Amino acid sequence: MPSKFAMLLDWTIGHLNELKEQGHRFVHVHSETLAALRRQPAPDPHWTSQAAARSSAQQSEPADGAPLPAVSAGAAPDPAQAVQSTLAQAPIQVAGESAGGWELRGAGGTGGGRSREEKAAAFEALRKRVLACVRCRNLAAARRHVVFGAGDIDAALMFVGEAPGMEEDQQGEPFVGAAGQLLTKILQAMGLDRQSVYIGNILKCRPDTPGQSSGNRKPTPSEMQTCVPFLEEQIDLIGPKVLVALGATAVEGLLGKTVGITRLRGHWQTYRGIPLMPTFHPAYLLYNQARTERRKFWEDMLQVMERLQMPISKKQRAYFSAEGPFLTRR
Ligand code: URA
Repeated sequence: MPSKFAMLLDWTIGHLNELKEQGHRFVHVHSETLAALRRQPAPDPHWTSQAAARSSAQQSEPADGAPLPAVSAGAAPDPAQAVQSTLAQAPIQVAGESAGGWELRGAGGTGGGRSREEKAAAFEALRKRVLACVRCRNLAAARRHVVFGAGDIDAALMFVGEAPGMEEDQQGEPFVGAAGQLLTKILQAMGLDRQSVYIGNILKCRPDTPGQSSGNRKPTPSEMQTCVPFLEEQIDLIGPKVLVALGATAVEGLLGKTVGITRLRGHWQTYRGIPLMPTFHPAYLLYNQARTERRKFWEDMLQVMERLQMPISKKQRAYFSAEGPFLTRR
């Protein structure tokens, strides 16, 4: 008698194949379901015999073509790993659906052909190096926290800002101040959340403002040159499908271009083969609340959603005829 787990897995694989045949490219998966799939379930006594049976069936029927993970007879496969690898091999991309809407998962790169575990370990090693960095002595002396970055290391979409501000320095998290709250609202309007994208910065330390207790300053070219290699490593590991550069400094740090953001925004660029959308920094939208600017920003985000082949509702398309609530102060 097959276990419920094995039956469900078979059904899921069959269903994914049917969807693929119907031309679907995405499936919605609730984020809790994805989290559950990542957990290690207790060993299933039925699994070994199921897998062994399936393996010999596959050997005798190679034309079957089901996207099951390869299972060698006699081995004791891990069901969770099998599901993960099934989803990884899934003929269509798996996108999680969180309470607020979409969450693009599993579409990012694996960091140069690494396994998931190797990628996570490489990311952690990078994080440790960054947290210990004292290359910019003035910044290291003034900082409370290094702000490494946050989000999903498999994200298909990555946002890059300028540098941490006071709140980010205090909390060690990117984009948590006023501009960050606006970014969170923008993500929500796109049907995303902070956990389903990756958010990083050109600088990992707050630019110091000696003699001042508050205020921000633009990173110097030398600070950018020193810190950007860390960001490059992050991007290489994450392997996002699309990058969004928030503001002129992000564009300058990534592309070396000093063209005004007003001219560049909305026009696709390429960073190491990755499509990059330059757009306004959310802090600019807080400062300049003109509807025209907010509309331009939203149009850039619609381009990003299209590029990622995310579903776009009529409401999202018409956001600006209905005064998008996410881009207003309250
Ligand atoms: N502005 C940025 O560019 N990055 C942050 O993390 C916060 C504000």
